[in-house]
Amino acid sequence: MIRIKFPYTNDTFHILPLNQSSPMHVTLRQLEAFITVARHLSFTRAAEEMNLTQPAVSMQIKQLENQLGQPLFDIKGKKIHLTEAGRDVRHYARSILQKIDDMKAGLQSLAGLERGNLSISVATTAHYFAPKLLSIFCQRYPGVNVKLDVTNRESLISQLENNTVDMIIMGRPPEDITVEAGAFMENPLVLITPSSHAFTREKSIQLNRLETEVFLVREKGSGTRKAMEMFFNQHGIRMTTGMEVSSDEAIKHSVQAGLGLGIMSRDAVHNELQLGLLSVPDVLHFPIMRHWYVMHRKGKRLSAIAQAFKDFLLQEAATILNKKPGPDTLKKIHPAATNTPTDDKYAPAKPHYALTGPDGKPIPPVPRKLRHP
Ligand code: PGA
Repeated sequence: MIRIKFPYTNDTFHILPLNQSSPMHVTLRQLEAFITVARHLSFTRAAEEMNLTQPAVSMQIKQLENQLGQPLFDIKGKKIHLTEAGRDVRHYARSILQKIDDMKAGLQSLAGLERGNLSISVATTAHYFAPKLLSIFCQRYPGVNVKLDVTNRESLISQLENNTVDMIIMGRPPEDITVEAGAFMENPLVLITPSSHAFTREKSIQLNRLETEVFLVREKGSGTRKAMEMFFNQHGIRMTTGMEVSSDEAIKHSVQAGLGLGIMSRDAVHNELQLGLLSVPDVLHFPIMRHWYVMHRKGKRLSAIAQAFKDFLLQEAATILNKKPGPDTLKKIHPAATNTPTDDKYAPAKPHYALTGPDGKPIPPVPRKLRHP
């Protein structure tokens, strides 16, 4: 029997392995550690994401393997692979963690909009506008506690995969995760130069003139950097990269100091343009037109507060910020939502475990369409 303890309620789920009689004790922490290592195929990166030490993560995995009686990872030198058992366990671990998330959302919904928590993660660049929106939302729902995490695209994709937050705001939905996403306003990326740059005195500058410039780029994993690289690729322009700088603020200062040119969301340079510290020259094909999306995993059960926040963004954010709305604020479902999971072949034909609740009654299996959400 596998016993899963719920940290908040002290309730316990029992999973009965069909062919084993000895009790097992599996914790949610072990499952979370396992899912995180399975995603990164790296103990180090999993430890970073979970804010744990690497030995602590290894210990969680070891304990889980001991409980299940099977190795979950195959480690050869520096390469880590999931074993067949690991792939099965990954499928069930995702379902279990999804159920816990649904349970939390369900409990929060009981409290309606009066009180509760809202955890949002936003792309680094979105921190230029997210606080203003949150301040209006919180005035409307004063009983809501908001947790705001500001991080880059790569880390947001991990959070989407792990389903660890209520809602995510970023530049473009990932292609390989099934998400529900709505574009709520435009996000033009502009070219920025020091205000004394020769480009500022010209009109309709040809794109290939940028080949003689040096560009400061954000860190790997940044959505802005990805968009910038795609843009130069699409137009067949060779980009010379200078310093890699991990914040928009530092890029702006570096551009002012003459270290190179930058490309970033117009949201990030509003003040500097007003103060004349930076300029946006007239280069053909600019701005790079993107949108801000609000998203969560498809099929995620939203708390009443999370739903209210999503509706608020889709319906009001663009107006509040004096921006143009996104093209599909009404459609709400991004085409990526139609993606089919790639690892379904690993789903076992029949479940190996029977799941029962604290009352001993069986919990129905997860419907197939929700597997590998
Ligand atoms: P970034 O993301 O702040 O990580 O560059 C912005 C985006 O997703 O467009």
